[in-house]
Amino acid sequence: AKKIIIDCDPGIDDALAIVLAHGSPELEIVGITTVGGNVGLEHTTANALKLREFLGLHGVPVTAGSAGPLLRARVDAAEVHGDSGLGAARLPEPRLRAAPGHAVDFIIDAIAADPGEITLVAIGPLTNVALAVRKEPKLAEMVRELVILGGSYTRGNFTPAAEFNIAADPEAAAIVFEAGWTVTTIGLDAAKHALATGWVVEEMRAMGRLGADLLVPCVEFYGLATAADGPAIYDACAVAHVIDPTLHVFAPAEVNVETVGRWTYGMTVTDFDVRPGRANARVATSLDVARFWDLVLPAYREAAAR
Ligand code: BDR
Ligand code: CA
Repeated sequence: AKKIIIDCDPGIDDALAIVLAHGSPELEIVGITTVGGNVGLEHTTANALKLREFLGLHGVPVTAGSAGPLLRARVDAAEVHGDSGLGAARLPEPRLRAAPGHAVDFIIDAIAADPGEITLVAIGPLTNVALAVRKEPKLAEMVRELVILGGSYTRGNFTPAAEFNIAADPEAAAIVFEAGWTVTTIGLDAAKHALATGWVVEEMRAMGRLGADLLVPCVEFYGLATAADGPAIYDACAVAHVIDPTLHVFAPAEVNVETVGRWTYGMTVTDFDVRPGRANARVATSLDVARFWDLVLPAYREAAAR
């Protein structure tokens, strides 16, 4: 199985990404690390712990990381994800606590112990990833792949120019894109097509407790708060990519994160006409939506049966 670390801010679509990883025999979750983002770190960590116990992710360490961005004032997305971060889902209080230590050290230590083998999937603001690669620059060579859900080369969702995960910590994102690795970047342009429309919700409703207690209350809340056609479960696209790298089409690009613009703070300025040797990312330009759900729904059914 492919080993992954999920750095996240659950977060409704983060939760749906974790369920996907759990239900996929192709993946082994080495650890879950948390960051403040959609809601505060105390909530994102509590939600990761609740998800671990609810799903039965026994033995997967949950390690808390950065509470807030490197420089900018903290922002959140509680109006989209609910004050708890998991919409209308009410999971039991966890019995087990987070692992000792900091997410940044967990990420460095786990990847250094298994070089070339672990994919880091970052589906929240990039604060932990930036600090990790600053503390251990060799991370850029040791990681198997860095996959982020973030950015957009068309329009944003937090501001007209910026996507939430980048906008929530633009300086961290800039560090990550400048760290010398090729960042697999799945932004809104592709991930906005991962819409949990009516038929998807009906499939989820038939998934027992997983559907009734987690998937449906998450997606329905998220749907009311976002699009009319059902919400896009963005973060699941990043995990889906690790399972099946052919779901998205990618193009090489040079991505620079705007950190000074008054109206463009957090924008991922994406140059597809990149000069040789300048590409720092491969950016998703499309998603095969039919094959995405063909992959995700069976994994959810598998997770429901576990
Ligand atoms: C991203 O922002 C967050 O609100 C979601 O969890 C996702 O990671 C989408 O812009
Ligand atoms: Ca997220």
